[in-house]
Amino acid sequence: MASSGLVCETDAWKDLKAHVEDIKKTHLRELMSDAKRCQSMMVEFDGLLLDYSRQCATVDTFNKLNKLAEAAHLKEKINLMFNGERINSTESRSVLHVALRAPRGSVINSDGKNVVPDVWQVLDKIKDFSDRVRSGAWVGATGKALTNVIAIGIGGSFLGPLFVHTALQTDPEAAPLASGRKLHFLANVDPIDVARNITGLDPETTLVVVVSKTFTTAETMLNARTIREWISTALGPEAVAKHMVAVSTNLTLVEKFGIDPNNAFAFWDWVGGRYSVCSAVGVLPLSLQYGFAVVEKFLQGASSIDQHFHSAPFEKNLPVLLGLLSVWNVSFLGYPARAILPYSQALEKLAPHIQQVSMESNGKGVSIDGVPLPYEAGEIDFGEPGTNGQHSFYQLIHQGRVIPCDFIGVVKSQQPVYLKGELVSNHDELMSNFFAQPDALAYGKTPEQLLKENVPSNLITHKTFSGNRPSLSLLLPSLNAYNIGQLLAIYEHRVAVEGFVWGINSFDQWGVELGKSLATQVRKQLHASRKNAEPIEGFNFSTATLLTRYLE
Ligand code: F6P
Repeated sequence: MASSGLVCETDAWKDLKAHVEDIKKTHLRELMSDAKRCQSMMVEFDGLLLDYSRQCATVDTFNKLNKLAEAAHLKEKINLMFNGERINSTESRSVLHVALRAPRGSVINSDGKNVVPDVWQVLDKIKDFSDRVRSGAWVGATGKALTNVIAIGIGGSFLGPLFVHTALQTDPEAAPLASGRKLHFLANVDPIDVARNITGLDPETTLVVVVSKTFTTAETMLNARTIREWISTALGPEAVAKHMVAVSTNLTLVEKFGIDPNNAFAFWDWVGGRYSVCSAVGVLPLSLQYGFAVVEKFLQGASSIDQHFHSAPFEKNLPVLLGLLSVWNVSFLGYPARAILPYSQALEKLAPHIQQVSMESNGKGVSIDGVPLPYEAGEIDFGEPGTNGQHSFYQLIHQGRVIPCDFIGVVKSQQPVYLKGELVSNHDELMSNFFAQPDALAYGKTPEQLLKENVPSNLITHKTFSGNRPSLSLLLPSLNAYNIGQLLAIYEHRVAVEGFVWGINSFDQWGVELGKSLATQVRKQLHASRKNAEPIEGFNFSTATLLTRYLE
């Protein structure tokens, strides 16, 4: 596909820019009174219901956004991704996380080679290994069953697996399968995180999974060395072979570290770190905790969305609709942030995971061709489960800044509770808020309404809610492994859609490099000063002063 210049130069972009004025004249109160419009903004797929009627948008807005998608060659770009083209051009890699959850026997090519058999070879190996650990066929060096797993990894080698683990923990299908087992995550290089992980843990019953795509990430490798020492001090150096396994694309470095390559679980360059939860990165620790069958269901949920994303027409395509709405909110309405608000405690780690998926992917300043962007790309993601967030930052969302919100609700709770004498179940209580908040944001409350309620005049402005604050609601039938997979894939593809429209490379992350290399310089200085009392050199006044104080 020929390069098409910046998307902001297209007529479709300019048309949307002009359309903003029309939309600003219309309040969501009016838009919501049009039932036909609202009906056209509800989409169902595979048990999920998306309602985006509370977006500051009309049917006309969507026609224009569709034209923008056309101008940005969205369909072609999605196809290039699924066809295994090297769309991550700055690293010359294809982007095939969809292959990680493709059904056995399907065909997805990278460089002319079907990668699905390789994927399933690793999945089969994980199933075999996790079955053996769970059944006690694989034991530790002293013959004890390995009931604790520490997954060491950071960024994409941590956040996705943590999100899924947290979501499954109370799932009535998955939880009993984890009985007697514990999954821990060690991410931060802060020694406090090591201490918190190993306090009360017995090396004899602990299996360590070192998860790193590159096997060079400073934090992960130092944590891996620290835990290796913890094991060999307690059980002798030979115990490492029984107690440490690895997940990586770099099997040479895994072996160099001292982990038997037979106990390494591979993945591939065409899996980006933040898109790797469906590779061995997530599948291994989660299978050890819940058994492979649960994780397979999770992969199937993600795969269902992949197929939908690849083939559904844009007007019914959940990730495409969500992605286009994000572009509309960020680039046209000027709302740079998004709140992710799941009304489920089980989804408490969704927002931290999506922060990386979205912000590391789309926080870019140049187009895929390296041209500085004359518009802002990327969005600021944050969130908390409801109703906790309501008692924290919702004040700002209701009366301060306008922040488009994703409300995520679940029909059937993982852990329903019905108290005698209560009018509604605890889950109904939670969900009452899920249904109420979007309307509070959309409609607000006018001074006229307040006057009718006899609110004292000095409080009218304080109690006025301007409304007209966009949100969308996504209702899941339940929260099991399958639905969690669906949710993950929806967010992953939404981010891709945004990046495709903005014309950026959502799959590289050069912005993380500078800080890393400056830290290397500091590390060298700290080492030299501590070992040989060498003076601090080569830093600006500010950093030198801080370093001096630190070393004192
Ligand atoms: O923060 C940069 C990054 O490269 C992320 O993209 C990645 O998820 C993380 O570090 C961990 O990398 P690795 O899996 O190679 O240890």
